Amino acid sequence: MNHMRGPMQTQVLKVTQPCRDHFEVVLRAAQFASALPGQFLQILCRDNDQQTITPMLRRPFSIGGLRQTNDGVLLNVLGHVIGPGTRWLSQLKIGDTVDIIGPLGSSFALPPNDCKAILIAGGIGLPPIRWFGERLANESRPACAIFGARNKNLIPMAVKSAPHTDGTPNDCLAPFADVGIDAVVTTEDGSLGMRGRVTDALQVIFDRAPDQSYAVYACGPNPMLEAIAALCAQREVACEVALERVMGCGMGTCQSCVVPVKDVTAEDGWRYGLCCSEGPVFDATRVIWQP
Ligand SMILES: Cc1cc2nc3c(=O)[nH]c(=O)nc-3n(C[C@H](O)[C@H](O)[C@H](O)COP(=O)(O)OP(=O)(O)OC[C@H]3O[C@@H](n4cnc5c(N)ncnc54)[C@H](O)[C@@H]3O)c2cc1C
Ligand code: FES
Repeated sequence: MNHMRGPMQTQVLKVTQPCRDHFEVVLRAAQFASALPGQFLQILCRDNDQQTITPMLRRPFSIGGLRQTNDGVLLNVLGHVIGPGTRWLSQLKIGDTVDIIGPLGSSFALPPNDCKAILIAGGIGLPPIRWFGERLANESRPACAIFGARNKNLIPMAVKSAPHTDGTPNDCLAPFADVGIDAVVTTEDGSLGMRGRVTDALQVIFDRAPDQSYAVYACGPNPMLEAIAALCAQREVACEVALERVMGCGMGTCQSCVVPVKDVTAEDGWRYGLCCSEGPVFDATRVIWQP
């Protein structure tokens, strides 16, 4: 097994644009340390808005998929264009070189055998959830998924019609349909799938089979994660959340990515954890949510 985390040079194998604001890049690394869903890469993005290309701080991106091939390790990065780094990534061409460090951070824990995993992604929280879904499907673990967006134009993946296992019609995100995971899409304006938020769909799943044990895994905007954590706490369901913080180094040195967490061993019952090294995946009951 390779334990090297980089920096290392990767080559762009593929760039796709699933919708106006999102892109997916497949990178090929000659070697890559063993990694798990939830972990992330620090990518040395560039700012090519100017005529001269200027370097900037590395940006964190979840590993959205990983495949070992005879020709190296393929890593998927899925992004939403919000600034110079993501714009640069979205404009890469096949054969370009990308400098990465990874895998970094913590990962999702597999659910106990008797538990059904409920995977929830909001917006650009999809990449780690999609990869975790693939892993659960490969291990034949029972799972279903919920993907939420404000409206259908903000869905970063192709949507396929994939009926639920009971035969009812369903608009499902292609990557979940492809691995046989039952998934619902929620949009706040009802433009696709169920009208409402991911917590409305979660409530329906809990109510439909109240005796089933569940483990919930979520990634997305903080208010969404907080609402999911509250619902899971009320139902006494285990929940892990992958958090995002602005990260300077991604490796525990700059202290820019703090998350207040409960800790009975700390003097006041809480302390700051580092999202980059203790996280980004946290047990939701430990997170102290802030506005
Ligand atoms: C562990 C982790 C995994 C991530 N995975 C992905 C991913 O898979 N795909 C993806 O598209 N993005 C992901 N992000 C977010 C991504 O790293 C940032 O959006 C990144 O800063 C974008 O770089 P940029 O140069 O395009 O924009 P920037 O110029 O860095 O940022 C543009 C604006 O967004 C704000 N911003 C930057 N980072 C964050 C943040 N983390 N939370 C809230 N606001 C922020 C900035 O303050 C600024 O206002 C992840 C972040 C973390 C911490
Ligand atoms: S990003 Fe530097 S300590 Fe976490």
